[in-house]
Amino acid sequence: MERILIIGAAGQLGSELTFTLSQQYGGDNIIASDLNPKALEKFEYCKTAVLDIMDQDAVRKLIKDQNVKQIYHLAAVLSATGEKNPRFAWQLNMDSLLFVLELAMEFKMDKIYWPSSIAVFGPNTPKINTPQFCVKEPNTVYGISKQAGERWCEYYFQKFGVDVRSLRYPGLIGYKSLPGGGTTDYAVDIYHKAIAGEHFDCFLSADTALPMMYMPDAIKATLDLMHAPKENVKIRSSYNLAAISFTPEEIYQCIKTHHPDFTISYSPDFRQAIADSWPDSIDDTRAREDWGWKHDYDLKKMTADILRNLPAYLVNF
Ligand code: NAD
Ligand code: SER
Repeated sequence: MERILIIGAAGQLGSELTFTLSQQYGGDNIIASDLNPKALEKFEYCKTAVLDIMDQDAVRKLIKDQNVKQIYHLAAVLSATGEKNPRFAWQLNMDSLLFVLELAMEFKMDKIYWPSSIAVFGPNTPKINTPQFCVKEPNTVYGISKQAGERWCEYYFQKFGVDVRSLRYPGLIGYKSLPGGGTTDYAVDIYHKAIAGEHFDCFLSADTALPMMYMPDAIKATLDLMHAPKENVKIRSSYNLAAISFTPEEIYQCIKTHHPDFTISYSPDFRQAIADSWPDSIDDTRAREDWGWKHDYDLKKMTADILRNLPAYLVNF
């Protein structure tokens, strides 16, 4: 039996990706691992393991014992949290990726997935329809670690044949778990406030446009990329990926059509500078051409879906 290990499974992305992987491969073949034992309790449908990706002996043992042949490495410190402790963010984000790439060689893994981000782009990057290949120069530790990570992925593919695949996600918006310290996370929090009937004070300015994506689209893109024939995956750093771009004012107006009494104010903090250094919108032509990427959700459709489904999930938070 060949198994798939998800590292950082209990987070915003992992919680939903693990569910879909379990449906596709069967829960017995999926191991959801995370540092946080309490958060693993939600995975009743697959195997679980409390695991620190930095504990190399424990990770090696699990891979050997469980015959792991694919890894989805999701554990990371995100953009806003990273700025509070840059050296720790660099160490976790970078050392863990290099370790996973080494494990892929050591255990002759079939495939590795590692997410990158729009945070690889910086203030000198073209802001509108940001191309796949262009100036990057990220200025957050998170962005620097993702850009370096992309270079390592391509290096391990070219030099050692490691089949590692990656996407530059935009801000991800899901309702099934709480976000973990990102600059785009206001777009998750805003729905919680609207449903609670509370005022929302946004940490970005009203007109800050950012690329975003609803979680079902992110899961679809991830699995489409991972299932694509090897020869179709022509970019081995990381693919640009896009769905929607909007400002805080635009998402607020959209929610207001469902909750007319909802109110918002704007108090930009240190995260404004991070958002200002990122693109407004992304050109993802290569993903669409190479492996047929197509998104399903726009702002209106995503908002209706979240407002319909979030209340039932709130009991879990
Ligand atoms: P998250 O913070 O919600 O989840 C990360 C998970 O990793 C948490 O459950 C945490 O407990 C776990 N973790 C932290 N340190 C660990 C360690 N040492 N060992 C094992 N587990 C550890 O993050 P997310 O939003 O789910 O993001 C997942 C990945 O996707 C990250 O690599 C992130 O950079 C990338 N990404 C996310 C977004 C987004 O908008 N959420 C956008 C672009 C890229
Ligand atoms: N959405 C993430 C963040 O804001 C970017 O990867 O940190």
